[in-house]
Amino acid sequence: MSDRAMMPDSGDAARVRHLAELDECEIGIEKLVAGGDGMGRFGGLPIFVPCAAPGDRLRVRVVERRRRYARAEILEILVAGGGRRSPPCPHFSRCGGCDLQHLEDEIQTDLKVDAARETLRYIGGLSLPATQRVLRGAPWGYRLRTQLHLEEGEGAPQVGYYERGSHRLVAIESCPVLAPPLEHFVVGLSGRLRDNIPSRLDVALGDDGALTCAPTIDDLPRGEVISRVDGRSYVYDARTFFQSHRDLLGDLIRTVVSAATGTCAYDLYAGVGLFSLALAERYERVVAVEGDRNAARYLRKNTRLARLANIEVVGASVEVAVKTLPAAVERIIVDPPRAGLGFRVRSDIFDRRARHLTYVSCHPAVLARDLKHLCRIYTLCELVFLDLFPQTGHIEVVAQLQLNEK
Ligand SMILES: C[S@@+](CC[C@H](N)C(=O)[O-])C[C@H]1O[C@@H](n2cnc3c(N)ncnc32)[C@H](O)[C@@H]1O
Repeated sequence: MSDRAMMPDSGDAARVRHLAELDECEIGIEKLVAGGDGMGRFGGLPIFVPCAAPGDRLRVRVVERRRRYARAEILEILVAGGGRRSPPCPHFSRCGGCDLQHLEDEIQTDLKVDAARETLRYIGGLSLPATQRVLRGAPWGYRLRTQLHLEEGEGAPQVGYYERGSHRLVAIESCPVLAPPLEHFVVGLSGRLRDNIPSRLDVALGDDGALTCAPTIDDLPRGEVISRVDGRSYVYDARTFFQSHRDLLGDLIRTVVSAATGTCAYDLYAGVGLFSLALAERYERVVAVEGDRNAARYLRKNTRLARLANIEVVGASVEVAVKTLPAAVERIIVDPPRAGLGFRVRSDIFDRRARHLTYVSCHPAVLARDLKHLCRIYTLCELVFLDLFPQTGHIEVVAQLQLNEK
């Protein structure tokens, strides 16, 4: 097969023995996979394509070759799949912030949930529970936080996001996934910056349109913001992690904390206390572990402001703190970053044999890997999918696990 060969996808695998030689081909997109890429096959080999829609017939160029799969980019849409649309945002073709604007809002969540379920079955080898729910909020204007990249430009500084798959800046004039006060601020930002332009700026929106930025720069809003959710108040600043979908904060807390009550619960990777404060109303004692110093500082502050004397804040890494947990604890919640628990923490949590374990994840493949190990002693009782990130390939998954009887 020569370079730049155009081949149909009906050939058998032997015809693609040398994927290395394949440059362009035609494929049909079967489905979305976790992360948001479309997947088609060439000679049986999976090919992953960004910005593809199920049902698309595409001419693609292979850009990365692996032994068992390849990645490709779209050269031409030959037939558009159902639900494909013109992306509403003018920056979508280059900006790396969103992955799914080419799909109608109504179908995005279901496709992401199907992909997450398949990943849990395929990577985790899990049988999925009968109890499953899908929660969604506004598809646009929802984000409470953003990370901007900045560069000196001719005249005014450039403000935007990195291009998909690179560190090249895409300057933006709008960003319709941001909550309106945040979008308004971002669009006008270039004109407000003078000297000492940082390469990255974090911006967070609190209640009543209040904004805060990090790092601290003259003329830009600074300090703390406050978010009130289900009658609880959370204070934080732009350096600190906070969940980003304005409509789903209450749903997330209620889903994670659930109706369970008891004597002691551990909230690992606690952030500024989103779950800890609610847990403290249901458990006599809550131990909240947070490794980031700034987040731990706000966790303490939020605990104090809520006058909750039954939360013990541990400002330490989970890797260290988990070793001090007693065996057979009642309840553990884990909400790790995208990399998941990792081998050591997962093994230590396994050994603690908590009766009720809740795993909150923004990365279904990593969740599947960790659950594969944990479900040797746990039963997966409930799965809730929350679309915290519309227009992107990401989805939040909450897994409720109960320890098996011996
Ligand atoms: C996905 S966030 C969840 C925060 C919180 N549960 C919430 O929903 O707002 C993960 C948190 O874990 C913290 N973190 C990351 N790695 C950690 C580690 N190894 N030990 C302790 N905390 C860690 C981060 O600082 C961050 O606050």
